[in-house]
Amino acid sequence: MTSCSIPADNRHVKHSDVVLTDSAASSGDCAHNRTTDVYRCNIRATLRAGHGYAHTMITVLGITGSMRWPSHTHMMMEVALRAARESGARVELLDLRTLELPMYDPRAGHIPPSVSEIRDRVADAHAYLLGTPEYHGSISGALKNFLDYLYPEINGKLFGFLVSTGNDLGTSALTHLREIVSYVHAWSLPYSVAASMEDFDEAGHLTDLHLRDRLARLGRDVTVYGQLIYDQFARDRVTGGGAHLGFAPWHAGE
Ligand SMILES: Cc1cc2nc3c(=O)[nH]c(=O)nc-3n(C[C@H](O)[C@H](O)[C@H](O)COP(=O)(O)O)c2cc1C
Repeated sequence: MTSCSIPADNRHVKHSDVVLTDSAASSGDCAHNRTTDVYRCNIRATLRAGHGYAHTMITVLGITGSMRWPSHTHMMMEVALRAARESGARVELLDLRTLELPMYDPRAGHIPPSVSEIRDRVADAHAYLLGTPEYHGSISGALKNFLDYLYPEINGKLFGFLVSTGNDLGTSALTHLREIVSYVHAWSLPYSVAASMEDFDEAGHLTDLHLRDRLARLGRDVTVYGQLIYDQFARDRVTGGGAHLGFAPWHAGE
């Protein structure tokens, strides 16, 4: 049983950041403990019964895959995350430079606690901005290694992409990002942002106003569409759901 405890005062479920609706609270799938004033609910049963959940505030997680500092990718990410915050998201940043992430090894039986914590942070977010320098026409090895650790944490959620290049247009790295994300059954915004060296000044600031505008739209859209997609996926992700619920039930047991 997937269950959760929800304090009556805010009915806030921390791990998945959802709010319990009144109809769910009074349903047979939630038990109210009068002593602690906490609801204990079977999430799946409650969803299956059609009691909606809506989450309080979307969290947009930015992930930057450059090991360089100062980093053009990071500068771009700051602009997009600021716009996400201004659009109502709680924003967080995972800078891969600062993480101790071993090379992903499918044979490794034990996952270090530090890696589990990172995966939990990813799972807690509702939408993502992925930023990478273009390396040899693709994404950085650091970002690819990071993504190899993830699957259930990101299924069904929305991604926006930004790429920093030397002189290229970034098309190749962006295409690879889009492909990777589709293989984990996640969504991509229909446009992305690429900037090359000449779009930055010597201090590393992004000077191109057109690109700043595009990044702001990316941050806004990943917030607004990210919330819509997350809510729909969460409603549809019901164990044993039929074809009328689309692809989400395939990910119900994760
Ligand atoms: C190993 C390596 C490979 C690179 N390959 C490309 C490339 O294929 N195309 C390109 O335009 N720039 C390439 N570059 C340049 C980086 O994409 C560029 O410096 C980028 O702005 C760095 O972003 P950062 O400041 O966030 O690290 C490469 C740089 C490195 C170190």
